[in-house]
Amino acid sequence: MTRTYRLDDGRQTLVLAAHADRLPVVAYWGARLPADEDLATLAAAGALDVTGGMLDENPDLSICPETSRSFPGQTGLIVQETNGTPITPHFRFESESVAGGLALTYRDAVNGLSLIASFAVDPQTQMITCQTTLDADRPVRLRWLAAPVMPAPQLSDEMIDVSGRWCGEFQLQRTPWSAGIRLRENVTGRTGHEHFPALIVPCRGATNTMGEAYAFHYGWSGGHRMVAEELIDGRRQIQFGHSAGSDLAPATRFETAPLYITYSDSGLNGCAVSFQRHLRDRVVTWPKPNTPRPVHYNCWEAVYFDHKLPVLKDIAEHAVKLGAERFVLDDGWFGVRDDDTTSLADWVIDGRKYPDGLTPLIDHITSLGMTFGLWFEPEMINTDSDTYRAHPEWVLGPPDQILGRQQMVLNMALPAVRDYLYERIAAILADNAIDYIKWDHNRVLPMQDAAQTRGTYALLARLRNAFPLVEIESCASGGGRIDFGIMQHTQRVWLSDSNDAKERLRIQHDAALFLPLSVTGSHVGPRHCHTSGRVLDISFRAWVAAQRHLGFEMDPRELDAHETAVLTHVTAWWKANRNWMQTADILRLESADPAVIAEQQLAADKSRFVVFAGKAETSAQIVPRPLRLTGLDQAAMYHIALINRDEAHHLSRGTPALKSGVMTLSGAYLMRHGITLPWSFPERMWVVEGAKQ
Ligand code: DGJ
Repeated sequence: MTRTYRLDDGRQTLVLAAHADRLPVVAYWGARLPADEDLATLAAAGALDVTGGMLDENPDLSICPETSRSFPGQTGLIVQETNGTPITPHFRFESESVAGGLALTYRDAVNGLSLIASFAVDPQTQMITCQTTLDADRPVRLRWLAAPVMPAPQLSDEMIDVSGRWCGEFQLQRTPWSAGIRLRENVTGRTGHEHFPALIVPCRGATNTMGEAYAFHYGWSGGHRMVAEELIDGRRQIQFGHSAGSDLAPATRFETAPLYITYSDSGLNGCAVSFQRHLRDRVVTWPKPNTPRPVHYNCWEAVYFDHKLPVLKDIAEHAVKLGAERFVLDDGWFGVRDDDTTSLADWVIDGRKYPDGLTPLIDHITSLGMTFGLWFEPEMINTDSDTYRAHPEWVLGPPDQILGRQQMVLNMALPAVRDYLYERIAAILADNAIDYIKWDHNRVLPMQDAAQTRGTYALLARLRNAFPLVEIESCASGGGRIDFGIMQHTQRVWLSDSNDAKERLRIQHDAALFLPLSVTGSHVGPRHCHTSGRVLDISFRAWVAAQRHLGFEMDPRELDAHETAVLTHVTAWWKANRNWMQTADILRLESADPAVIAEQQLAADKSRFVVFAGKAETSAQIVPRPLRLTGLDQAAMYHIALINRDEAHHLSRGTPALKSGVMTLSGAYLMRHGITLPWSFPERMWVVEGAKQ
């Protein structure tokens, strides 16, 4: 007997099939199947042959491959008795439930284990969320638990995963498939700049806009493990879970984080749109769902630790004139924090800098019409702090550990630590008109520990429950903690500490494979970029920030009249467009010119779009190559306009039509030929708006 299960969302079909009482295999995952496909026949059709030098049957590549079934690769579960004795699980079907998604329960009566695999499909976002839970009838030690294990296509030559560094997040790495394992294991205890937990498997020939692709994201902030393995028989499996061994204590229940998976028949963009929509519309909970994203001002790169009330008030007055709507007071307001060596965990307003508390500053900011946000780094402690002197036992890891940014990490698994942090943060939120927290995390853990991540999530949940209107940004030296796990508790990410627009252009482009505009903070930095030393034109800086959730982070008093005018103009444009842009899909365009990084933001109803074509380098060829658009209606006509054509340099002396006004062209032309932009210097952005007729 074969049990079969089918999940459909209109774009993709996932079929699970289990022979007798065995764990199921994914018998099919891909483009939608006809409704009358016979699933038992389909399952039988995929059975592999056997020849010499093989076992007499091919072991199942099940949702949790088992050693007990001679699986010739990485197994989905490694578990031990508390004394270290290995357990060899052998699961048998127990029950199934289809209410609110598919849940399948398997039992290993001999070893006293139960395995539950769940799958939920979302027809709007076309995302499948799956998860594995292990129950034991006595405490056991977990070494490895994979979320439901998925096959990867064999008509695929490479896989794409994500690495990065401080100021260089979301670097895509392409690795050819070959026999054996591609392993990503993040043992740092924090998602990190280096380990965004995701994998994209494009089928042969797939591009941003065309072809088939499969994508995976593991929604966990404590470090993940990914196994992409090609078995000897050619089959390929993808496993995601917490980093191995990061559940330190024996327990009777272990759960993976949700694994988000999707199949696209419209290139990498199909996967990107599913992630963007799912994160924005399902994972994030918005304190005020129908309000526009406010323009931020953040004072970090203006004043650093040097907080002076008259200066901050003056800066706020400048910022509001540019269009800022929320003022975020960054690091330096608490303890005696004059540099980064001291005071973390002493969450008491610094009376030297703020003798009357934060009220005079907040009152000034609210009188200007802005709301107020405040920086915290709750999970951290400096040894030079009153809190450390009182509670050295609250620190995670050994006393002689290597510090990170001169700081240690609080043990978030301890209820006393969470209570202390809750009380300190809640007191400040209760006493002050604060609608936003920038929640920082500036070092990796001294050791991996899943309980740390769970403790942080619990603190975030408690604070959000008590202060449901306060928004929280996830920052970790920029983009060091970005994942759908932390985003269940937060609403914005500080994508990178790099405010260098040239670098940001690339980081934003690659991060858009997963992140929508509404959560992605992007600030206009100082004229002289503090992290790269580059000097960039204000238009370029402003337009790059306007691609995402716009903010400013320079000292606005440095702006000259031209810079002020440009920034005010671009901010006004962003405010006029943010309502539709914050629900738009970000589509990465194929650029025939590698010097150009381009995207198209397409409104949810597809009635309008904006194209950002950023020239990151000097082009190899002398004039721009046409830029093909995507996602349009072939037969429809579109008005298109180059809205910043006044930025054309006099060295652009030809007459491309976009330089002189609005044109009306078909979707077919725009997608098959593309738009012809004027020549420009490098480090410039062209912005083209389109509206369907
Ligand atoms: C690191 C963050 O990424 C910066 O934006 C800033 O908040 C500093 N920490 C403050 O110490």
